[in-house]
Amino acid sequence: MAFPEFRARRLRDHVVFREMVAEASLSARHLVQPLFVKEDLKGRRPIETMPGQAQLGMEEMVAEAKRARDAGVRAVILFGIPREKDAVGTAATDPEGIVQQAVRRLKTDVPDLAVIVDVCLCEYTDHGHCGLLATVGGRKTVDNDATLEVLAEMAVTCAEAGADMVAPSDMMDGRVGAIRDALDAAGLVHVPILSYAAKYASSFYGPFREAAESPPQFGDRRGYQMDLRNGDEAVREAAADLEEGADILMVKPALGYGDIIRRLKEAFGVPVAAYNVSGEYAMVEAAARQGWISREAVILEILLCLRRAGADILITYWATEVALKLQSGAG
Ligand code: PBG
Repeated sequence: MAFPEFRARRLRDHVVFREMVAEASLSARHLVQPLFVKEDLKGRRPIETMPGQAQLGMEEMVAEAKRARDAGVRAVILFGIPREKDAVGTAATDPEGIVQQAVRRLKTDVPDLAVIVDVCLCEYTDHGHCGLLATVGGRKTVDNDATLEVLAEMAVTCAEAGADMVAPSDMMDGRVGAIRDALDAAGLVHVPILSYAAKYASSFYGPFREAAESPPQFGDRRGYQMDLRNGDEAVREAAADLEEGADILMVKPALGYGDIIRRLKEAFGVPVAAYNVSGEYAMVEAAARQGWISREAVILEILLCLRRAGADILITYWATEVALKLQSGAG
């Protein structure tokens, strides 16, 4: 097929035609707002490394969820920060734990908002790793299979509290299957799993670890999160998660990972989520504060590019703000 005399500007120069042929689009239905709920906190505590974001007490969390809902956001993802942490993350599986309570409050007070819970142990363990520790081959590491049971129990307690979706972010092998089996056994067959299928060991999570009070106390997460140099492995991880019962695949971080989003979308044709993480947020906010970039334009550009890469769902700290803007006709 030949296209003689292709002149790209014919469709680019007139605003109507430019809009008519634009491929990627952004609307509030794609956005998920993360919320940090902290046990015993009254009010809100700003997160220094994420200007504009805060740890929230229960009442503030409900207020923030209502704000998101009123802006047009349809779902939130919850992170709980418990009063007490221990080596085995006991607070994560407590039916009266902070995140389980938060789910119940949201389902009562903001019932039209879908509630997703991040299922992981790093906010609940005193050592800050995403699972239980063991010494294997003389090395202190995270015990994969022992962790699966705890994750499955956490998922079930959250779903029993009313969570509409669970999102395992720990990167243990076999966790999607373990969680699916446990949910099914508890009669929770209707609860979907949003798997952090391709979660990379990234330096872009730094600000989140302040927000969730979850930095590893020794070592790092490279023993379970993916090596950022690998792409084929993401496809393999995703295939395994789908076989185990994942309903949605997540790629995290988002900005440098558009190729992975695209590959998963093309390989499997299933819904894909992108997590626009804390460090990506912080970079934009910092540069904007210096007056070095045009903040709102950059935010829209990032989110639209993720949509173009193939993401159906965008988890972003800007969700409420962007939804509000879309309501008023921008975008
Ligand atoms: C929990 C979890 C993390 C993030 C989401 N879930 C932190 C980590 O893996 O260290 C990061 C989110 C962000 O940076 O915005 N395991």
